[in-house]
Amino acid sequence: VENAPIISDAEYDRLYRELIAFEEAHPEWIMPDSPSQRIGGEAVEGFTKVEHPQQILSLASVTNLEGIVAWRDRIAKLDERVMNADYVIEPKIDGLTIVVHYENGVLARGVTRGNGIIGEDITANVRTIRSVPLRLRESATPYPERLVVRGEAFITLEEFKKLNEKMAANGEKTYQNPRNTAAGSLRQLDPALTASRPLTWYCYSVIDHSGEVPGTQWERLGLLREWGFPVSDFSTWAKDLDEVLAICEDRIPRREELTFEADGIVIKLNDLSLRESLGIVGKDPRGALALKYPAREEITVLNEIRTNVGRTGVITPYAVLEPVDVGGVTVQHATLHNFDYINDKDIREGDRVVIKRAGDVIPYIVGPVLSARKEDSEAYTIPATCPSCGSPLENVEGEVAYYCVNTACPAQLVRNLEHFVSLSAMNIEGLGIKIVEQLAEEGLVNDIADLYQLDPADLLALEGFGEKKVEKLMAAIQASKAQPLARLLNGLGIRGVGEVMAADLVSYFGSLDAL
Ligand code: IVH
Repeated sequence: VENAPIISDAEYDRLYRELIAFEEAHPEWIMPDSPSQRIGGEAVEGFTKVEHPQQILSLASVTNLEGIVAWRDRIAKLDERVMNADYVIEPKIDGLTIVVHYENGVLARGVTRGNGIIGEDITANVRTIRSVPLRLRESATPYPERLVVRGEAFITLEEFKKLNEKMAANGEKTYQNPRNTAAGSLRQLDPALTASRPLTWYCYSVIDHSGEVPGTQWERLGLLREWGFPVSDFSTWAKDLDEVLAICEDRIPRREELTFEADGIVIKLNDLSLRESLGIVGKDPRGALALKYPAREEITVLNEIRTNVGRTGVITPYAVLEPVDVGGVTVQHATLHNFDYINDKDIREGDRVVIKRAGDVIPYIVGPVLSARKEDSEAYTIPATCPSCGSPLENVEGEVAYYCVNTACPAQLVRNLEHFVSLSAMNIEGLGIKIVEQLAEEGLVNDIADLYQLDPADLLALEGFGEKKVEKLMAAIQASKAQPLARLLNGLGIRGVGEVMAADLVSYFGSLDAL
């Protein structure tokens, strides 16, 4: 209700499914205050309460294609017409339900979902959303005198990015995610504030109407478009279940193409009278289903904040997490970027934190769940010394970074060697991170130049080294002497001298001696 969840949607869904399974097996266990016994959250105070003309339903969900087949088989047992049914497929936009009433084609009222039976009148705010028509369009099929439609209000990914850039530029706090921002924007008591937020709205069902309206979802979506409602182009018709499965299979990986955040795909029986006759379970109609995308946001415990030493001595904090599955990948570590980031967000050890993994990006911490914070938690303090060599850290005036300035710091040596032998520098084959660490640890290499003074006999004495391996490694090190000068310069890891600068220096000076 307050849009401040203390567990992730994915965790909620998982627990909810588990609960339903228990309750199905043991109906005598159902408690009057079980989440399955209530329709949704309570409406909060501040706006006028409005009763919906019909219950605003939710959707049962599955996480894979087998779940869709199982759903169809289940409802086919209740009504054999299901076996020959066609379907409509829609995006499951991750926003907020808004129910909009039209009288004689004019917007009369906009209402939140509330608890599904009673919502809040946010008409003034809804009016500010440009994609919500204030007046319906005349068309060959006239709109009914009274029409109540349901849709999803949201903020597109691009608008969200722009909004946050604006906030950051003004030195204001940035928003966590599009959904919470949309939710917060809609419950502003001052509509001028709502108007300043880039909200969009897509419409996907008719809740109530006077007169005649076609009896299929697909025809209705077509008419809604004709009457001027925004309907997602992602919506499509499927002639049977095989086509539904094929479309889902095609669309799951195409999530990235969407301009808005979607948390799944909605599959609906096209025939609305068939859907009606199948009835509802709790708050979910039997005739529609959500296929959920793997979640990319999770909540877990931050056990410890540790630091890494970079090649230039820069200290970067990272989080050690209670391992958690985020969309099929187990996440144990997440970047914390820099110390300012930790302090701005007031991230503390022991906090429950929201972590996000988007595409290939390294998981990062969105922020702490403040309502779940332990009373004895303490704000994070920036370490005074290097985690590797223990020398005091230095902060350069005007820079966010803290540095270990000890040139003999072992962690820096390893990072430097790693960089020197890497693909974009000297590209020494067979000299990976493990071996570099081993050489540094054994004291065989104390700086880059030592690589070229290695004694094969010393290498042979190391664990895991045989004749062949030593021979190959020595040859690769020798071969690296033939690399172009720019690679050597880049490899030295001088702050400010990367690939491009190195190439520029070489083209200007021509030789190492001249340089
Ligand atoms: S249909 C059968 N269609 O998903 C009526 N819901 O319902 C049940 N949602 O919070 C809802 N896109 O706001 C339906 N194309 C779509 C949807 C959609 C997003 C949201 C809806 C609700 C949740 C579950």
